Amino acid sequence: MLTTVTFSLLLSAFASVLSAEVFRFSSYYGNHMVLQKAPAKAVVWGFGQTGAKVVVSLSGSKNVSTTVINGIWRTTLEPVEVGDPYNLTASQSITNSSITLTDVLFGDTWLCSGQSNMAFTVGQVINATEELALASKFPDVRIFQAALAHSDEELIDLARVEVPWSRPTAELLGGKQFSHFSAVCWLFGRYLYKTLKYPIGLVHSSWGGTPVEAWSSPRALHKCGLMKSVLPVQSYFMEGASTNWNSSVLWNAMIHPLLNMTITGAIWYQGEANANYNRDKYNCSFPVMIDDWRMAFHEGSDGQTPLGFPFGFVQLSTYLKNNSKDGFREIRWHQTADYGYAPNERMKNTFMALAIDLPDDRSPWGSIHPEDKQDVAYRLVLGARAVAYGEKNVSFQGPFPTHAFLEQDFIYIVFNQGIEQGIAITNDRFFEICCSEDKACGSGGKWFHVDIVKHGLYYVIVSTPQCPAANITAVRYLWTDWPCQLKACPIYSSDGLLPAPPFILAITKQ
Ligand SMILES: *[C@@H]1O[C@H](CO)[C@@H](O)[C@H](O)[C@H]1NC(C)=O
Ligand SMILES: *[C@@H]1O[C@H](CO)[C@@H](O)[C@H](O)[C@H]1NC(C)=O
Ligand SMILES: *[C@@H]1O[C@H](CO)[C@@H](O)[C@H](O)[C@H]1NC(C)=O
Ligand SMILES: *[C@@H]1O[C@H](CO)[C@@H](O)[C@H](O)[C@H]1NC(C)=O
Ligand SMILES: *[C@@H]1O[C@H](CO)[C@@H](O)[C@H](O)[C@H]1NC(C)=O
Ligand SMILES: *[C@@H]1O[C@H](CO)[C@@H](O)[C@H](O)[C@H]1NC(C)=O
Ligand SMILES: *[C@@H]1O[C@H](CO)[C@@H](O)[C@H](O)[C@H]1NC(C)=O
Ligand SMILES: *[C@@H]1O[C@H](CO)[C@@H](O)[C@H](O)[C@H]1NC(C)=O
Ligand SMILES: *[C@@H]1O[C@H](CO)[C@@H](O)[C@H](O)[C@H]1NC(C)=O
Ligand SMILES: *[C@@H]1O[C@H](CO)[C@@H](O)[C@H](O)[C@H]1NC(C)=O
Repeated sequence: MLTTVTFSLLLSAFASVLSAEVFRFSSYYGNHMVLQKAPAKAVVWGFGQTGAKVVVSLSGSKNVSTTVINGIWRTTLEPVEVGDPYNLTASQSITNSSITLTDVLFGDTWLCSGQSNMAFTVGQVINATEELALASKFPDVRIFQAALAHSDEELIDLARVEVPWSRPTAELLGGKQFSHFSAVCWLFGRYLYKTLKYPIGLVHSSWGGTPVEAWSSPRALHKCGLMKSVLPVQSYFMEGASTNWNSSVLWNAMIHPLLNMTITGAIWYQGEANANYNRDKYNCSFPVMIDDWRMAFHEGSDGQTPLGFPFGFVQLSTYLKNNSKDGFREIRWHQTADYGYAPNERMKNTFMALAIDLPDDRSPWGSIHPEDKQDVAYRLVLGARAVAYGEKNVSFQGPFPTHAFLEQDFIYIVFNQGIEQGIAITNDRFFEICCSEDKACGSGGKWFHVDIVKHGLYYVIVSTPQCPAANITAVRYLWTDWPCQLKACPIYSSDGLLPAPPFILAITKQ
């Protein structure tokens, strides 16, 4: 006779087998979704009864069939061009069950991730009312959002879905604060749609207050000497979440399940939570996370998501005034793997949107959450157009210096592109010169503010500080936590749109 315990054990084992066998698509396939268009092939997968045959059919396309192995079926569609909405049907033998997803579009699918500035919703931005009113005018920009979840193990599917695939509505875009739907993600998709004029799928998976370590796999952390640990994160970065993060828990629950879908690329807005946590490892942890995601999405999609897919990110804006050492100047630099610009040798096929000139001390959400997400998204889209879509005539980077040299009493800083417009010479706090016996401007080195003396099409000339010429070693620019007023940094691209990023550069002797 069965004891109650054995019986309930049997029952739960039976229940788990049964639930694994329910024929369905995985959580992030649904009506209104956007699947990756040709030339890539979209991966489609779900759960079913082991041994059954599953046929996947798309109106007007060849059926593909596969077999359920260990409760999972998975197939790759033939490449599908952009077109009218499709119905996607999966049918399983044995049970004769069949599921149809309707209004499925083919287009480009982008993943959006990061912390609170990515989670920041359309309802929270400047001009929110106008932005929300536009939602229904873009029915081909579709949204999906993973629910917050963390896990100690890599999950196969999302634990929960916050926003199932939907056509955009004001209600969904201006939903819960810091939840749905991401303003940067939405505006990125909307602006991109205006250029590409075909469907865009946006998959949003982010969580406020989270450090990069939570989004990184153990194998990525290992490469930077970051061991598995509980991460203490300062509470003022948090929005109603626990204050401790174990490494990899969001990778496990909010990224790993998505690896099997085919995507075009990813955008990322994160770094605040690392301004005082493992900050000087961020120049390793961030580029390594990008590499690791790329490898994993490539593998997870059976090679359909390109290895080295385009990855865009936002360089941090501003948080505290008066150079209070909030760590932002260092983390901004580390976001570029210490190059100052992107893409670069270390971070190929990336693009960066600046936000340093978009400070906001009146934000109701605190200065760490600037309300202008339109400019951030616009700059990201310029980067995507140039880097991801190869548009030749799109400039997406602000001026950056190639070299700086000392000649007589002046220091010349030479840029690679026009700086004639937007240069402001009213403030002398922007350029600093290092006076040091040590080339690297290490300990004992002192930074002096210097004036802009003159500027031209491709150069800025600054004065020299009281310092022996041989000790003049480096120049830095915008090297404070909160350097400029809104859109009033000294150096912009010729069209006045793109600010020069902060930099540190060695000075050579002439
Ligand atoms: C494709 O599969 C659907 C059912 O999923 C079926 O109705 C249709 O006849 C199949 N087409 C071909 C060409 O086999
Ligand atoms: C998709 O299915 C819906 C309802 O099942 C139907 O009304 C529609 O015509 C179908 N669309 C296509 C393209 O087959
Ligand atoms: C499935 O369909 C086949 C052929 O129509 C039939 O023989 C079989 O009994 C059905 N199985 C179930 C579980 O309904
Ligand atoms: C962190 O890991 C510990 C030990 O594995 C576990 O008890 C705890 O629940 C985890 N916390 C989170 C937030 O994942
Ligand atoms: C990262 O920055 C730190 C601190 O500036 C430096 O010591 C380290 O060498 C850098 N690491 C890499 C990989 O660039
Ligand atoms: C998804 O991709 C991962 C990584 O390649 C793989 O381990 C996993 O089996 C895949 N899942 C499915 C459902 O195919
Ligand atoms: C920053 O400096 C300004 C002017 O020096 C001062 O009025 C303000 O109180 C300071 N703010 C903080 C947060 O220290
Ligand atoms: C907000 O709307 C005003 C008035 O249309 C416009 O001038 C401003 O540029 C908008 N701000 C942003 C960030 O889009
Ligand atoms: C590139 O852009 C410039 C300035 O916007 C424009 O004058 C020029 O015609 C464009 N060239 C091409 C090939 O589109
Ligand atoms: C560099 O400056 C220090 C004083 O800060 C001075 O003692 C030293 O002689 C200078 N070195 C050179 C090479 O001028």
